[in-house]
Amino acid sequence: MNNINNIVSRNVQNIEISGIRKFFNKVVNYPDAISLTLGQPDFNVPEKIKGAMVKAIEDNKTTYTSNAGILELREEISKYLKNQHIDYDADEICLTIGGSEGLMDVFTALLNPEDKVLIPTPAYPAYESCVKLLGGQIINYNLKEDFSINFEELKILISQEKPKVMVVSYPSNPTGAILSKEDNNKLYEIIKDNEIMVISDEMYSSLCFEDNYYSIAQFNDIKNKVIAVGGFSKMFSMTGLRLGYVCAAEGFMNAIMKVHQYNVSCAPSIVQWGAYEGLKSCMSDVEYMKSEFIKRRDYLHDRFIKMGFEANLPMGAFYMFPSIEKFNMKSEEFCERLLKEAGVAVVPGSAFGVGGEGYMRISYAYSMEQLKEAADRIENWLKSI
Ligand SMILES: Cc1ncc(COP(=O)(O)O)c(C=O)c1O
Repeated sequence: MNNINNIVSRNVQNIEISGIRKFFNKVVNYPDAISLTLGQPDFNVPEKIKGAMVKAIEDNKTTYTSNAGILELREEISKYLKNQHIDYDADEICLTIGGSEGLMDVFTALLNPEDKVLIPTPAYPAYESCVKLLGGQIINYNLKEDFSINFEELKILISQEKPKVMVVSYPSNPTGAILSKEDNNKLYEIIKDNEIMVISDEMYSSLCFEDNYYSIAQFNDIKNKVIAVGGFSKMFSMTGLRLGYVCAAEGFMNAIMKVHQYNVSCAPSIVQWGAYEGLKSCMSDVEYMKSEFIKRRDYLHDRFIKMGFEANLPMGAFYMFPSIEKFNMKSEEFCERLLKEAGVAVVPGSAFGVGGEGYMRISYAYSMEQLKEAADRIENWLKSI
């Protein structure tokens, strides 16, 4: 029998399955536990989207679409983005199989082995795994206590390490932080003055709890230095339907399209028609979901503060990232004990990189009843430890 390790690519051996999934798999052994682990809204897909997908099947819209995806949807995305002051035309947008494929396509289109990529820590784990798979070098940049960018450190890292690419990820999974107007302007100055590409992950842009949304993709004069990745998993609560998109200026889009074409040809046709309907007529559903998330956020944050946790008020997405430092346990141990002894599953902060140690991620994409029961259980457990 061949030694598998001699055969499987070193880059693949170098990565692990996501810590979020690992922890989720443990929860299965505790059937009575309340799981607040997944980044998946608990709402149904809006009815009109479902109807549009059923109709697409009935109308036999089940063939390949163009590689970039149906023009109707790309035009609708372009309009949606322009409302957020992000200027991409339909031919600068490519539909992908979730933001996940979009991210991988972009990294693949940009990176040569050894290229350096600045990745925030803590952050969504896929960034580091994509870079490792491609043989790139990860350079972490730390975030401040409120999970905003530490610009002093960032400037030093850029001038010393000369990274080719920087990942920016707001609203953030796992911290719930958003990009402020001031920080967006500061980031712009840095990107303008340096030779660096930004990949901006805008997966949660529809779940920003402030009136105004800020993104580095809003500055048109650095359009050639920014690639945005977005998607509909969270926006329309359609994680399993797998639809995302990449926005890039023409030259980059040509490169991304090559990767996309040979990977998947196109995103699923039926879902594209669903999202098209969604953008045209389901924005009130998105607003409703957002308002529900805000209620849950307020409830959960209040409970945690009353229990004595230090936790920033999340301003977007649907995660809270409280500190567990005062318990003198590694986040993995803390979360294992919380699962076994309190019957509540949350994700250890360490699953989000070195900067996540000392925290736990709680997803509040769960019903108010579940959040209340989980908070009660944690409160009781705290009294016992
Ligand atoms: C920050 C972030 N980016 C990208 C993704 C990928 O989303 P999807 O592939 O479902 O569109 C996720 C999913 O959780 C995420 O949290």
